[in-house]
Amino acid sequence: MTIDRANLQALKLSEIRNSMTEFDLYLDLGGEIVPYANGPHCWSPDETEQLLQNGQFVLLYNRADADRVRHYLASRVDAPEKPHTDASHILADGISEFVKTLYAVRFPQEHYGLVKSLTLALDKFLQAYPQLSDLCLRLVQHDPYTFYHSARVAGYSVALGLALRGADEARLWDMAMGSFLHDLGNLSVPREILNHAGSLNDAEWDQIRQHPEEGLKLLEDVPLTRMVRDIIFYHHERLDGGGYPRRLRGSLISPELRIVSFADVYTALTVPRSYQKARTSVEAIQFIEDHLLKFLDPKILHAMRRLLTVEGGQLSQIAG
Ligand SMILES: [Fe+2]
Ligand SMILES: [Fe+2]
Repeated sequence: MTIDRANLQALKLSEIRNSMTEFDLYLDLGGEIVPYANGPHCWSPDETEQLLQNGQFVLLYNRADADRVRHYLASRVDAPEKPHTDASHILADGISEFVKTLYAVRFPQEHYGLVKSLTLALDKFLQAYPQLSDLCLRLVQHDPYTFYHSARVAGYSVALGLALRGADEARLWDMAMGSFLHDLGNLSVPREILNHAGSLNDAEWDQIRQHPEEGLKLLEDVPLTRMVRDIIFYHHERLDGGGYPRRLRGSLISPELRIVSFADVYTALTVPRSYQKARTSVEAIQFIEDHLLKFLDPKILHAMRRLLTVEGGQLSQIAG
């Protein structure tokens, strides 16, 4: 039986860990969709672990089951959360957030293999350096928003990088890793400032502006490429020269940096915070178009619109 990918939605493996699901689930094996669980399925920690080790960070379900899945996830909210004390689970969560973001924009099927090997390489690298997993764990404990935000920025950066810069795995890996780590320096910013609802005073802004440099300092001993370091240090530079820390402008900001900056802003607009409602993708695209194009690259906005439009016509009302 052929399964139509257009009818499937992604669900993070971490969301169903140690529980019972009652809807059909599928796996994506290098672009081939295969049935995995039919009807009631009891998830054991071993099974989940094995899937994670095989690079399966998400499962797919039928759109027709969307209501049942929503119901199931809502009931899981009350389940006791495992405290964030296990670095390998945190990393797996971050990676699955990355993959889920990529699935949400539906890049062309011909790139599934590339994205799979990129995901495995990213995971392997994060696991290989204890300082890295330790820093990710500390970040989740300090400010979970920043950690999951970064994983999503990595997903959008790879999707945009593929669309605009081609299927160069080394470059995409740099963009993914740079994005994954771009806000690590938030570890040095008190969480009250990170989650502050009103306007910040000058001293608080100064602390925020330090986070790119602080991030690099934390990663001094990890062998990262120049591009990864640049993404961490320069991700708040803006085309009009109004960014920080170096007030770079125009052509001094590389295409990869522009992509990550765009993904960073788009992600921040579409996630709810204590002080703002999440915008839908349509509202976020419109907001960027109306207010932010003097410092974000319009070419990237167009690419993002195309990527989101591919996603079940989500943006058809403004795609024109
Ligand atoms: Fe940042
Ligand atoms: Fe960010």
